[in-house]
Amino acid sequence: MKKESIEVLFTADEISRNLDTLARQIENDYLGQELVMVSVLTGSMMFVSDLARKIDNNKVDVRIDIISASSYGLGTESGDRVNINLDTREHLKGRNVMVVEDIVDTGKTLNFITYLLKYHQPSSVKICALLNKPSRRDPALKDLKIDYLAFPSIEDYFVVGYGLDCAQKYRNLPYVGILSFEE
Ligand code: XMP
Ligand code: MG
Repeated sequence: MKKESIEVLFTADEISRNLDTLARQIENDYLGQELVMVSVLTGSMMFVSDLARKIDNNKVDVRIDIISASSYGLGTESGDRVNINLDTREHLKGRNVMVVEDIVDTGKTLNFITYLLKYHQPSSVKICALLNKPSRRDPALKDLKIDYLAFPSIEDYFVVGYGLDCAQKYRNLPYVGILSFEE
């Protein structure tokens, strides 16, 4: 049986520091405005809850909504289909929307979600991600813009922790780690 091992990539402290920076950037960009953060479940749960709590309510009027999409099966390979399992509930027309995602891989999930959200005619739609794996991007989506990114782009590792999973495991790790399989 294959044994799984995890090597730390980003510690809890590093995550917290980078989220502080991102929060200051968001406060500047949305100063005096309202912002609906749409968390893409389940992977961005930890990210959105920590990031939202770092944003000063006197500067930005933050709201949180959720959407659930899945493009992955039980393993580590991306599927070609994006399923929307749960849609947003906030009224998004004329509002600033920020889609908050754990990791951008092929980009198909985010591309589909932003396309769906634009149907509600928000005044703006921005993308915020914890991690980015540009080497995996679908060629048709090479211009996909990530407006807010917590960490510099990473190699094509399969990462877990801080919301990210492998078959639902490891989401509760306080750090992000590289998952590998040993014989
Ligand atoms: P796409 O390909 O649509 O995929 O950009 C985005 C979703 O795929 C999942 N994903 C990962 N999940 N470790 C994970 O735990 C990874 O390294 C990884 N790469 C992609 C993730 O759910 C993301 O929302
Ligand atoms: Mg996800």
